[in-house]
Amino acid sequence: MPPPPQEQGAEMINFGNGQPSLSLLPTAALRTATEDCVARGDASLLQYGENQGDAAFRASLAAFLTRRYAWPVPAEQLMVTAGASPALDLVCTRFTKPGDTIFVEEPTYFLALEVFRDHGLTVVGIPIDGEGLRTDALQDALTRHAPALLYTIPSFQNPTGTTMSASRRDALIAISRAHDLLVVADEVYHLLDFDAAPPRPLASYAESARVLSLGSFSKICAPGLRLGWIHSTPELLGTLMRSGVVQSGGGLNPFTSGVVRSLLDLGLADRTLDALRAVYADRSAVLCGALREQLPTATLVEPRGGYFVWVELPNDMRAAELLPRAKAEGVSFHPGGRFLSRDGFASAMRLSFAHYDAPTLVDGVARLARAIAGYGPAA
Ligand SMILES: Cc1ncc(COP(=O)(O)O)c(C=O)c1O
Repeated sequence: MPPPPQEQGAEMINFGNGQPSLSLLPTAALRTATEDCVARGDASLLQYGENQGDAAFRASLAAFLTRRYAWPVPAEQLMVTAGASPALDLVCTRFTKPGDTIFVEEPTYFLALEVFRDHGLTVVGIPIDGEGLRTDALQDALTRHAPALLYTIPSFQNPTGTTMSASRRDALIAISRAHDLLVVADEVYHLLDFDAAPPRPLASYAESARVLSLGSFSKICAPGLRLGWIHSTPELLGTLMRSGVVQSGGGLNPFTSGVVRSLLDLGLADRTLDALRAVYADRSAVLCGALREQLPTATLVEPRGGYFVWVELPNDMRAAELLPRAKAEGVSFHPGGRFLSRDGFASAMRLSFAHYDAPTLVDGVARLARAIAGYGPAA
């Protein structure tokens, strides 16, 4: 999970904090949804549930995703999870064994690397560019390795904010079919566009290739719900459902599923998501504007969704060396090297705009600018 809570007003402005501010969490909507759920008086939500997850919740989720993806999502292609992180762990348990090689994008979500380490996997990086995963590099890497899976974050990627183009998505699926490559698409940011939807989710290719798409209510509603889904074919979902954890526990999170079913059915999930999209669009614009104004020599690509801005510092400035100076000014961030399976991206840093309001973001950039102005390679 993201680093410990760092609330607004606290001294340090931590751009590393990839979680929403408390004020953005939909407490009123969840109160209404919980009351609606409890009023149904459905005791089965307090019982062990189906391995695939509560059927009524999956039907509501399928209707929501069909609308939001503008692509048909059948409920039988959804399995309920406790969020994308446990889903990724489950995928590793069922589709890899210690010592296997897997492919990831370079750079990638640093905590996914921890999950892969837990499973004793050897991680090989595939570079990305402005269109996402470089499928030519993937083809090339497949001549040298036989990976158990490829992990990708196709939309509004963590950490770079990049979105894979439609043609790259098609090329990736063609490669997956040709090599029987399992694609694990972490699509937790897909619905968080600011103004234009990204190309169709990799979930929508589930019937054309071996794709497991991970979704989560963490980014579109509230992380503390610990609720998400895997979208795939019944066959691949069956492999996941036969895990000991899922069978012994009787599915994942039946009660929370009941509450979120009400949230979906009452239209409150749509409202919450649209409110978050609007706030993040504003915060991203404020952060990028402040960066351009106060750090004109840094390079950044303004994101069109998600949580993150990836900044390249000028003059080979090393982000890891800048960090102690930044902390002394009261601002923190994740240096680029954290997002890679090996050393690299030394002059890059990831800044999240999800956690702070506009004035705090501007203040954070001012502190960063002061740290950079005082920068000289560590003595
Ligand atoms: C790419 C990515 N996947 C997964 C997660 C965690 O998702 P969840 O809260 O559903 O476990 C995050 C959170 O930062 C993320 O950035």
